Amino acid sequence: MTNEWWREAVFYQIYPRSFSDSNGDGIGDLRGVINRIDYLKDLGIDALWLSPFFPSPQVDAGYDVSDYRNVDPLFGTLEDFDELVHACHARNIKVTIDVVPNHCSNQHELFKVALAAGPNSPERELFHFRDGRGENGEIAPSNWTSAFGGPSWTRVQEPDGSWGQWYYHLFDSSQPDFNWEHPAVMQEFENTFRFWLDRGVDGFRIDVSDALIKDTSFADTDGAYPLIPKDDSCGVHDIYRKLREIMNQYDGHRMAVVETGARDEIVALFIRPDEMHLAFNFHFLKSAWSADLIKSAIAQSLKANAIVGAPTTWVIDNHDNPRSVTRYASTTHLDGHYVPAVYTDLNEQDIEAGKLRSRAMALLMLSLPGAAYIYNGQELELPNVDDLPNEVLQDPVFFRTNGEQKGRDGCRVPMPWSGESSPFGFGPDDTNPWLPMPYYWGDYSVEKQINNGASALNFYRRLLALRRQMPVLRQGSVTIEDSGNPNVVKILRENVGAKVLIITNFGDESYFVHDDLAKKTLIASNPTENPYEVTGNSTVLIEIN
Ligand code: GLC
Ligand code: CA
Repeated sequence: MTNEWWREAVFYQIYPRSFSDSNGDGIGDLRGVINRIDYLKDLGIDALWLSPFFPSPQVDAGYDVSDYRNVDPLFGTLEDFDELVHACHARNIKVTIDVVPNHCSNQHELFKVALAAGPNSPERELFHFRDGRGENGEIAPSNWTSAFGGPSWTRVQEPDGSWGQWYYHLFDSSQPDFNWEHPAVMQEFENTFRFWLDRGVDGFRIDVSDALIKDTSFADTDGAYPLIPKDDSCGVHDIYRKLREIMNQYDGHRMAVVETGARDEIVALFIRPDEMHLAFNFHFLKSAWSADLIKSAIAQSLKANAIVGAPTTWVIDNHDNPRSVTRYASTTHLDGHYVPAVYTDLNEQDIEAGKLRSRAMALLMLSLPGAAYIYNGQELELPNVDDLPNEVLQDPVFFRTNGEQKGRDGCRVPMPWSGESSPFGFGPDDTNPWLPMPYYWGDYSVEKQINNGASALNFYRRLLALRRQMPVLRQGSVTIEDSGNPNVVKILRENVGAKVLIITNFGDESYFVHDDLAKKTLIASNPTENPYEVTGNSTVLIEIN
């Protein structure tokens, strides 16, 4: 590994409430992570990303933060966090955490003070308060809609009890957006960054990083999502330059990865040398199972990032998207910001194909240069749970769309560790998990997979070990070659003398490698007797001379 470890690190995303519950209240916690730390070590990842565990009313599963510099009692204490960092560092695992700068919870002190201070007060300037339109201000200041559905403005009751101003929220009404043009907001986040850097975290994942600076005229739009930056003029980059200066004052190559849904060329602007370090490759994640779409996602994102000298950050699963097994089981191309897709018309055979494809994609992405993220449960090939009954759903997307979209709970069902019935080792035996775990979840448990050489879990372990051994899988060049078959993507990887071919077969018929140079098959996502056979829906890695 180079000093800039993040350039080629494999991160493991822990969604704390769904990973492991130590005290049986149904919600995973930091102690649960500590208890499972050797599982993570054995998997072979380099770093963790913990989704929010900060004090929060949990309206958006912790992405509504009421205090950026503490731990919610639901997840434990600051001492637990310190212990977790210590235990990870002792095992050579880095720890990164989520920062949510676009908005806070309406229970955050700064917002409560702003509400109490009344219209036109300096306290309200930290948010986007506006008078309403219409005779009595009863019409929202503009027609902007929330990314979670419904309007993006909510009217408040003033301290005297009368209906008053409105405030802007990109997400739920409980998540007021900060006004990043105000220096006190930068100060709040400088304090937050320093607080955690001082505690030894190795980096951050920056939530909704592209929307911090808004067109504060809030002029009506034609309905388009108004916030994704389209060019470089947007002041958001000054924010990241400032944050980078702060991070540079710390040793150990601390890093940040940004979440932005912009197109490749705009994403790259966030990871120029004086801004942040990595940016999720959502172009890759959102591309459907198709040779053409995946090939162009790879080529375009690599090209855009090369211009700024930044690596690419591969990802196919996270807590906001239907799990890859289920996504690739269907050929629907994902579009838009939050994916409404529910895959209720898929049968068991489709899901089996989805598993093969998800594994093929994992092999492909983990053999490409750059950083990569794995989402907890991806290594078990968990499918999305699309039949959760409405009564148990918790995602604000479900409520704000009046049930039209089921939301993201289907990819957040707790992890199965062992046993044949709920809670499948997620917590002590009498635990009632925060989302119900399907009756068949035991088939996917860590316990079941660990002793099965052909399991997904053992595949991921072998793959991560191989990637560690062979620098050519993490560094070097990428050349997309002609495979002679429109369904087959063939990529030559080269690095100081080493050469590897990645061959992914998006079709159903086997493809045979005719390469005279072939030395040996390193790993196959769906191995057969013939080392040069790439079965349908699979990837093979071949070392060549
Ligand atoms: C990001 C998070 C998502 C959250 C939203 C609002 O997209 O990944 O889970 O709901 O921001 O904070
Ligand atoms: Ca718990």
